Amino acid sequence: MISNDSPTITVAPEVQPVGAPERRRERADPCTMIIFGASGDLARRKLTPALYHLAVANLLDEGFAVLGVAREAMTDEQYRELMRAELEKSDGFKSLDERAWHWLASRMWYASADFVDPATFPAIGEKLAAVDGPRDGAANHLFYLAIPPSVFPPTVKNLASSGLLRRTASASDRPWSRIVVEKPFGRSLETALELNALLLDRVGEHQVYRIDHYLGKEAVQNILVFRFANSIFEPLWNRQYISHVQITAAESVGVETRGKYYEEAGVVRDMFQNHLLQLLALAAMEPPIAIEADAVRDEKVKVLRSLRPLVENGEAAAVRAQYVAAKARNDGMIGYRSEQGVAADSVTPTFAAIRIAIDNWRWKGVPFFLRSGKRLKQRKSEIVVQFKSPPHMIFGAADGTRVPPGRLTMRVQPREGIALRFQVKTPGTVHELTPGFETTPVEMDFCYQEAFAEAPNPAYETLLLDTMLGDATLFTRSDEVEMAWRVMDPLIELWSNGAPRDVPVYEAGSWGPREADELITKEFPGAKWL
Ligand code: BG6
Repeated sequence: MISNDSPTITVAPEVQPVGAPERRRERADPCTMIIFGASGDLARRKLTPALYHLAVANLLDEGFAVLGVAREAMTDEQYRELMRAELEKSDGFKSLDERAWHWLASRMWYASADFVDPATFPAIGEKLAAVDGPRDGAANHLFYLAIPPSVFPPTVKNLASSGLLRRTASASDRPWSRIVVEKPFGRSLETALELNALLLDRVGEHQVYRIDHYLGKEAVQNILVFRFANSIFEPLWNRQYISHVQITAAESVGVETRGKYYEEAGVVRDMFQNHLLQLLALAAMEPPIAIEADAVRDEKVKVLRSLRPLVENGEAAAVRAQYVAAKARNDGMIGYRSEQGVAADSVTPTFAAIRIAIDNWRWKGVPFFLRSGKRLKQRKSEIVVQFKSPPHMIFGAADGTRVPPGRLTMRVQPREGIALRFQVKTPGTVHELTPGFETTPVEMDFCYQEAFAEAPNPAYETLLLDTMLGDATLFTRSDEVEMAWRVMDPLIELWSNGAPRDVPVYEAGSWGPREADELITKEFPGAKWL
């Protein structure tokens, strides 16, 4: 039996706190950011707070402006007031830096328009020209589509046919014109292909920024640094030393106010097609020749292309389930079918666990287990690399069981950082039942916040700044997003063709269904999700 519950000793971080590092980021190019869906959830909760924090950090240019576009009738002043109120409610907000807010608010404008209707675009154009002022015609434009996927296509068409979104020949052309597309990028391979065709018919790939906010997380970018700036682990990063890899993105929240969207999406489209496959690609990719957009994206695409089909002969090594209220506990957590906007007989999965095989030289025979779900016991996203046991074990643990193998955990959130578990000699006398040395697993722990004395940068700040700097490294390219759909589509299809009442359940607040554990134990007896 491999015991994963062995006592662990957390040792002091290797890195001494160094205080807040100097921000060495470049300032954004001057530009006008046109936010479609300016009064929506994303603009309120993520985009405006990110812009404000960039303003506080003095990373926006004097020539920066925002033009919010949404259906609601609002004056510029009402829009500013609304955004200020939202900012003050946003995650982690402490106190308002009045100077920075004033700086930003004086550059914020609003236009009410139905962007599905081509007739409203001349008015948007006029307002944009007024916002650009003396820079009209020479201003850089960042179009941000924070809108439901169903209105992406008409909005892109209208933007292009009205002349607001212009094709540029290369990334170095000025003024630039870029378009940021939020996830979900389509809802299947077919729709993603259509959307890419539509975009690339109007603009160049260098103008399209497909967002996956996981790539903006500091700890996700650190996967590249950890792997390729150190030579310690790379020699071990393969089938010879690694037994299997687990990737978890667990949430304790339910679907909250997004029931209607989630009914259409389900966990595979919402989390696996994008965030989890991105984590897998970064953990499994070959070293890119440089940290630049195409070099990194080429390597990620290669990983996605090497994944063995998830469905073979009508079967998949995968488990799905939906949360139900826990009978025994009266904790107020309702089941998925009782959530607002969810059908009373919904079969939408809110949890999935999938075994993925990578058919390439490095990873042959090393399964990657991926899981994600809503209303799980705890919020945590991490990658756990489980190393193999030594070929001949000469030590026994105190309880007489085999010595648990070493493992490396890359924590994406919370407590962003890295932990390494390994065996040490238990101090003191030898246990009478186990002649020879006793061993105890201990953990060496690096935590970003403790080591650098500041919280990691929120994903949207990093990503927004990158769009204004023209750095596409952390955005998904068309072939990458299509490959990710190619991987996930067969599974979505398999599950959506099941009998309507077929979806297994798990209790809200648990770690998901038992079958998810069996996915691992079947292959690695005694192992479990970590
Ligand atoms: C989004 C999903 O992309 O990611 C949400 O649509 C999910 O359903 C969210 O809650 C999770 O993001 P994070 O950053 O909280 O892990």
